[in-house]
Amino acid sequence: MTRLTITGGAGFIGSNFVRSALNRGYDITVVDAFTYAGNRANLEGLDVEVIEGDVADPDIARRAAQRGDTIVHFAAESHNDNSLKDPSPFVRTNILGTFELLQAALRNDVRFHHISTDEVFGDLEIDEPRKFNEDTAYHPSSPYSATKAGSDHLVNAWIRSFGLAATMSNCSNNYGPRQHVEKFIPRQITNILSGRTPKLYGSGLQVRDWIHVDDHNEAVLDILERGRIGQTYAIGADNDHVNNLQVIELICELMGAPGYEHVADRAGHDQRYAIDSSKIREELGWRPRFTDTETGMRSGLENTIAWYRENEDWWRPVKDHVESAYAQKGQ
Ligand code: NAD
Ligand code: DAU
Repeated sequence: MTRLTITGGAGFIGSNFVRSALNRGYDITVVDAFTYAGNRANLEGLDVEVIEGDVADPDIARRAAQRGDTIVHFAAESHNDNSLKDPSPFVRTNILGTFELLQAALRNDVRFHHISTDEVFGDLEIDEPRKFNEDTAYHPSSPYSATKAGSDHLVNAWIRSFGLAATMSNCSNNYGPRQHVEKFIPRQITNILSGRTPKLYGSGLQVRDWIHVDDHNEAVLDILERGRIGQTYAIGADNDHVNNLQVIELICELMGAPGYEHVADRAGHDQRYAIDSSKIREELGWRPRFTDTETGMRSGLENTIAWYRENEDWWRPVKDHVESAYAQKGQ
């Protein structure tokens, strides 16, 4: 396996994955529709082939499958808040797009790796010690997570019904360089850098099991190289003891900002996610690198803050627009 086709390779996780995969010696083709979340600057200077197009278009899906031995499928509409405003692109890209790629992978005898999320399992109570693992029943809450759950079911059906050589991973919340400023952590960092006050939804007691994007992507590469066909792997960095309030306080401390404000909560806000990643740790020997004893996030956040400080040209052009859309919703 030497040539990877990476859908959504111009987005946050996909473009960081392209870098990690190039470091491991792969040839890369990126297939991306360059929606608002896809950024050509994310691929600047990288030795990759780019096919611009919508994965829900059967012709683009066929070209994607004919360009590599393996499709790594990141392309998705990925933001919960947007899915509450207009779910339709989520249904098209996340469900129909995955369907077209599965069909194309099958017809061209190409391996498939599906990038999914812990949100398909729904949420846990704030003080519930249970964690999600590969056997947890699906119970998605939002239009975003429902469409990701639908895509996961398609992948499993194609494995069982048609014998597609596929694997899947369900990861927790990522953070790191090149994440769109609509998302929690880059929003707060760029709020501070642009003289705004960080914004916390509701109580801020919600918990996300944060993982640095490079740790997620190393896990995906390990699955591609050593994972068992037909298997699902849950990926997380054991940060399920850190709530949003603590994350925002740590960002304020690291950046010398005076404080934050509470804003309107998200409708149907999932309370707590937590991942048990023992399977990938035991089977493939994967471990996250960005960890520390205090919050598990200090070194990863320092790395992320430094990137946004050094790359104002990347986020400045979209910041005002994102903030005015949030302001209209009282957020
Ligand atoms: P993102 O929104 O930053 O990037 C998505 C990319 O997909 C963009 O480049 C966009 O242009 C492209 N795209 C969207 N629709 C497309 C279409 N129809 N055809 C082709 N390209 C299209 O997303 P992200 O945060 O990098 O997430 C990538 C994947 O990882 C998604 O599948 C998401 O569900 C999953 N995931 C994300 C997280 C997280 O914390 N961000 C955690 C676990 C899993
Ligand atoms: O769990 C994995 C998921 O993580 C991925 O599947 C999604 O693609 C990704 O967007 C992310 O979903 P979340 O909804 O958890 O991420 P978001 O960054 O939008 O919000 C993280 C938490 O922070 C959530 O509890 C809402 C809160 N929040 C968010 C924003 C944008 C705030 O308190 N303030 C904010 O400004």
